[in-house]
Amino acid sequence: MQLTDLSTVQAIDRLSFPTPARTGLFEHELAQNDIAHYQVLGVAGDGRSPKIIGFSGYWLIADEIHISTIATHPEWRGRGLGELLLLNLLFQAYDHPANMVTLEVRQSNQVAQALYRKYQFEEVGTRPRYYRDTGEDALLMTMPSLSARYHQFLEEQQKALYQRLQSEV
Ligand SMILES: CC(C)(COP(=O)(O)OP(=O)(O)OC[C@H]1O[C@@H](n2cnc3c(N)ncnc32)[C@H](O)[C@@H]1OP(=O)(O)O)[C@@H](O)C(=O)NCCC(=O)NCCS
Repeated sequence: MQLTDLSTVQAIDRLSFPTPARTGLFEHELAQNDIAHYQVLGVAGDGRSPKIIGFSGYWLIADEIHISTIATHPEWRGRGLGELLLLNLLFQAYDHPANMVTLEVRQSNQVAQALYRKYQFEEVGTRPRYYRDTGEDALLMTMPSLSARYHQFLEEQQKALYQRLQSEV
């Protein structure tokens, strides 16, 4: 993700979350937060630069990756692209290398929870009234062990996902 991507990123962010990221947050993350890592996902456009349809971000804190955001444009959901963003992020966890991955997710967000469970994240606790906009609790989910076996699982998932993307997108 680059500063020039931010108008599209912010538009997707507004369409994706009950309370969008505060003004200046992405600029701060990109320019001033050394532990922050953000990616965009683009699809081939009409010969010019790719069209951004999703993004993800995480903080690398010691040996832990904390997923700060992940979203796909509503018109592109249900096609495996959110999964592609998460897979990419998990492979990056090995490259750092990190030992565990954590995240918070709204209790009502069944779609995101299904995605994380597909990647073997486990619910390890709740943060009561974590979301100030609705007073909703957050579920704390983790992938506690980035083992060689889990890396193999990711490779298998990637293979299956690429086959799906080639046939569907
Ligand atoms: C969560 C989000 C990124 C998923 O992206 P997506 O592109 O729709 O998801 P994918 O098509 O890649 O689906 C991946 C998995 O998510 C789950 N999923 C996706 N859509 C689902 C639905 N409608 N119902 C239940 N589970 C669903 C499934 O486990 C799916 O795997 P499957 O295809 O093998 O069933 C997207 O819905 C989004 O941007 N939501 C708004 C922002 C948000 O809530 N972010 C998470 C914050 S914690």
